[in-house]
Amino acid sequence: MPTLEPEQLAIREMREDEAPIVLELLKDGFKDTENRLILYVLTRPLALLLMAVVSSGLRFFLNSFVVALVLPVVLTVVALKLLLWRSPDLRHLYAYYNVGQRGIWVAVYDEDDVCGCVALEPWSGEPGAAELKRLAVNRWYRRSGVGRRLLSFLENQARAQGFKFLVAQVSVVTKAAIGLFENTGYKVSGGRQWLGYTIQQEFIKELL
Ligand SMILES: CC(C)(COP(=O)(O)OP(=O)(O)OC[C@H]1O[C@@H](n2cnc3c(N)ncnc32)[C@H](O)[C@@H]1OP(=O)(O)O)[C@@H](O)C(=O)NCCC(=O)NCCS
Repeated sequence: MPTLEPEQLAIREMREDEAPIVLELLKDGFKDTENRLILYVLTRPLALLLMAVVSSGLRFFLNSFVVALVLPVVLTVVALKLLLWRSPDLRHLYAYYNVGQRGIWVAVYDEDDVCGCVALEPWSGEPGAAELKRLAVNRWYRRSGVGRRLLSFLENQARAQGFKFLVAQVSVVTKAAIGLFENTGYKVSGGRQWLGYTIQQEFIKELL
């Protein structure tokens, strides 16, 4: 855990030429989450049962027992990876967040080291609510208060834009993000289910 000089850390709008760095930051930040989420999804009893049924079906058409066993797992992993990276914002980060009330910001240490990012967009789930998106901190800078600073910055930004609530969708396997929201006044307000299991928790905070 590096010791940061708080005054050396600044948060500002992301420049267009920084989009590739931020994309790498996001990929790195979400790689662990993505793999853990896939493992979590694949190991739910109902998912295991479904894959066993598909494997048994495939055994009628395929000669190899191993291929019949592995194919459903590989296809599920590929489908989940494609689904997780399908978001339109990731393809055109700068253009996507430079429209209307959306925005994307970077945390910069020592003037030029981009060490974190966060984005905002209006949330369709409730009037007056904005959604926190793309929060990530470079792994070398984690547990040094950068995430907390980015979150506090985004709350002020949302407030200044007239939003009354801030919402964040958090994967159940990201313990760090869950800890961050729980310790900064957010409450669980819902979630997304898959085969009856919660895979994403929704956090909300009123911006007083
Ligand atoms: C989640 C993330 C942004 C946190 O950034 P960070 O700079 O490490 O967070 P901070 O140092 O500001 O920590 C703030 C609080 O978050 C919680 N927290 C952070 N890391 C944690 C961890 N590994 N385990 C449990 N709680 C954690 C703690 O409550 C912490 O407060 P404390 O240090 O006083 O205990 C960072 O871990 C990350 O980029 N993760 C990968 C991407 C991701 O999951 N993004 C969130 C999507 S919603």
